[in-house]
Amino acid sequence: MTDVKKELLYTGKAKNVYKTENDDEVLIEFRDDITALDGGKKDTLNKKGAYNALISSKFFKILEDEGILTQFIKLINENEMIAKSLDMIPLEVICRNIATGSLLRKYPFHKNQHLQPPVLQFDYKNDVYHDPMLNDSIIIALEIATEEQLQQIRQITLKINKVLSEFLYERGLILVDFKVEFGFDKDGNIVLGDEISPDTTRLWDSETHKNFDKDIFRKGEEGVVDAYEVVVNLVLNDEEKQKWNID
Ligand code: TYD
Repeated sequence: MTDVKKELLYTGKAKNVYKTENDDEVLIEFRDDITALDGGKKDTLNKKGAYNALISSKFFKILEDEGILTQFIKLINENEMIAKSLDMIPLEVICRNIATGSLLRKYPFHKNQHLQPPVLQFDYKNDVYHDPMLNDSIIIALEIATEEQLQQIRQITLKINKVLSEFLYERGLILVDFKVEFGFDKDGNIVLGDEISPDTTRLWDSETHKNFDKDIFRKGEEGVVDAYEVVVNLVLNDEEKQKWNID
């Protein structure tokens, strides 16, 4: 516990969000809980929260440096982040560079087909309706976002994809696909929120295509946290590793 934490605002599947003294900021706690299959598979894995917080903070800093607005302010603990408070848009924006997973089950893509331009997909973040896939007209009719806002979300997501794909490829990983969420800040800007971590991406070794992400857990295999630790070691620089006691 830190003294910054106040009232719990929201608890999700792997994170808690707390109020802080400043109404414009929240504290996001990354927990060690991991879930898959619409909450049907659950576990608690020591250090998972810290590794995701470290990886997500690093990605958000890189994206900020490239001019993308993000929620990230600072990490105050290995698993606690101070972030801009946002009015979240209930969309899961999925960006895919390689055809795998459900794309192969639902459509006639070849296994590992390169998707250029990347495939973008919008899911409605809604537990009652089990996150159905949306299209532009449904998003606009439900007043989730306007056509202009959707266009902006597409552009930002493609830029995130380019920046992170390059950063990861230089470190031996392929960004196969990922999910991002956005919100509005108090000035009405569209800002990247939530997290980008091995929980929300597929990361493959560029040579062997071995997974370094939550697919290990989805498949019921061992070594989830060890894989996340590999990612921490690949993305953090020496100074950051020293600061957070990463070997
Ligand atoms: P998903 O659509 O769940 O799997 P599949 O590709 O088998 O259809 O996942 C695609 C990517 O988006 C993957 O990197 C995980 C991420 N994702 C999340 O992190 N959370 C989600 O709720 C969804 C739908 C996807």
